[in-house]
Amino acid sequence: MSQKFFDRCEQGLADLMREGRYKTLKIFEGPVGATAPIEGLGDTLIFCANDYLGLANHPEVVAAARAALEAFGAGTASARFICGSTVAHRELETALARFLKVEAALTYSSAFAANNGVYPALSKPGDVIFSDELNHASIIDGLRLCHREVKREIYKHSDMADLEARLKAHQGISGCRFIVSDGVFSMEGDLVKLDRIVALARAHDAVLIIDDAHGLGVLGETGRGIAEHYGLMDKVDVYTGTLGKTLGGISGGFAAGPATVVDSLLQFSRPHIFSNAIPVSSARASLAALRIIERQPQMVGDLREKVGYMRGRLKAMGIQPIEGESGIIPVLVGETHAAIDLAQRLLQEGLYVVGFGFPVVPEGTARLRIQVSGAHTRADIDRALAIIERAWPREDRGKRVAAGE
Ligand SMILES: Cc1ncc(COP(=O)(O)O)c(C=O)c1O
Repeated sequence: MSQKFFDRCEQGLADLMREGRYKTLKIFEGPVGATAPIEGLGDTLIFCANDYLGLANHPEVVAAARAALEAFGAGTASARFICGSTVAHRELETALARFLKVEAALTYSSAFAANNGVYPALSKPGDVIFSDELNHASIIDGLRLCHREVKREIYKHSDMADLEARLKAHQGISGCRFIVSDGVFSMEGDLVKLDRIVALARAHDAVLIIDDAHGLGVLGETGRGIAEHYGLMDKVDVYTGTLGKTLGGISGGFAAGPATVVDSLLQFSRPHIFSNAIPVSSARASLAALRIIERQPQMVGDLREKVGYMRGRLKAMGIQPIEGESGIIPVLVGETHAAIDLAQRLLQEGLYVVGFGFPVVPEGTARLRIQVSGAHTRADIDRALAIIERAWPREDRGKRVAAGE
């Protein structure tokens, strides 16, 4: 191998280590639930999973995956266009579309792939795409993959005046306009101002695309996500989403919307055309998760109640999370090393939460991201809080919040 190249790789890793940004993997020796066995650490409370409803290890979800493995084997061995389309894929897509009250859905190998596929496939030279500056990395990358004559307008986070000004500046174009936003912003836990964005999209004839990865199964009376939360179920034009969070924590994603748009994706979107279909076991497991949510919508209210309890107790302990209505509870701690040190201390005490620092979030706004799951009992939450109480000295809490503000 080229020595020059090897040295560059080594240097890159050394830089990360020096800056305290080097990531290591925790190795799990069993399923993720309220707790999980982590290699070298033993049974640990898990408060960092995206499995908001605790369905990743639900017996019905696991049984559905097992039965699908027996019936269809381990993999599809090709993309959907070749021999990778099964009745299970169709059933899941039909169920997702029905759940979101849209005409059609299409699965991808991940939501990352969906976001990489949707924008280049749907946009044409002369179009303008308006995107929130805090949108997920997969949307940012998806926009980069668009034709160079597709204009990207990045508006300030949730700043509707900025969005409106940018829309107005492109009033006369002959191409199409798209507004794209996360439904729930994954680092802040805040919600898109959907009512305002819908109004702007209608006023400016823009297509509205929402990535509801963290909203589905969490927001709205029956878990239908951000649009249900706002009572605007039929106002989002296109959704992207993941099977990797509430829908069984599985590797897979989707896009959903009008049949003509979804058919356009099937015809033109490269991650769909040139990548393997999700395994049938994943499709059936996600379908089982979706059916559980449909059957037991009270799970969503239960989760909300648990998140509210966690937030309330944290505040009572002098810890001030960023306000929000989603399942994400971010707590600012200031500098990146502070977030990493604190997360490490909590882990040693038996609580796994993740500290995010620069460059994932801006310098000085490093945070712990606490995620409650339907798998947690009140006792699990109390145990987690007791660990936070022990590992996070009282006198430090105020200081760290102030540093992050
Ligand atoms: C808003 C958002 N979109 C997309 C993704 C990617 O999802 P997946 O893991 O299915 O690729 C994530 C996951 O972190 C996310 O938070």
